[in-house]
Amino acid sequence: MTRPDRDVMLCRDCCCGDPGKHPTTDHRAQQDALLACAGTTRAGERVRVRVVDCLGQCDRSNVVLVRDFTRGRRPVDTWLGDVHDEDLTWRVAGWAERGGELPEDLAAHRFAPFVPGRG
Ligand code: FES
Repeated sequence: MTRPDRDVMLCRDCCCGDPGKHPTTDHRAQQDALLACAGTTRAGERVRVRVVDCLGQCDRSNVVLVRDFTRGRRPVDTWLGDVHDEDLTWRVAGWAERGGELPEDLAAHRFAPFVPGRG
């Protein structure tokens, strides 16, 4: 696949996806739900979904990073944390598929990533 319009990264590593840390989350169903939004949308945009190793934001696990390439010269990254329940997962998947501004009902899950050395 050439560069997608949106690249969705679902973290799965030491914290994200760990049933020991998040025992009430169905991590497999979450992964399946997000993977299901991969492909070409009705609007003809391409969405790629990848399961990735630790994104370095474990305090916010489960973490989903959505990188949007359609909104200017540089990609726009949206970090979503504490993604645990099924309804929230489906809302994230729906937005990743539709694109556009982050819906208000997801805003509480948006966070600025911790960057070592930047305090
Ligand atoms: S395991 Fe997901 S941010 Fe570290």
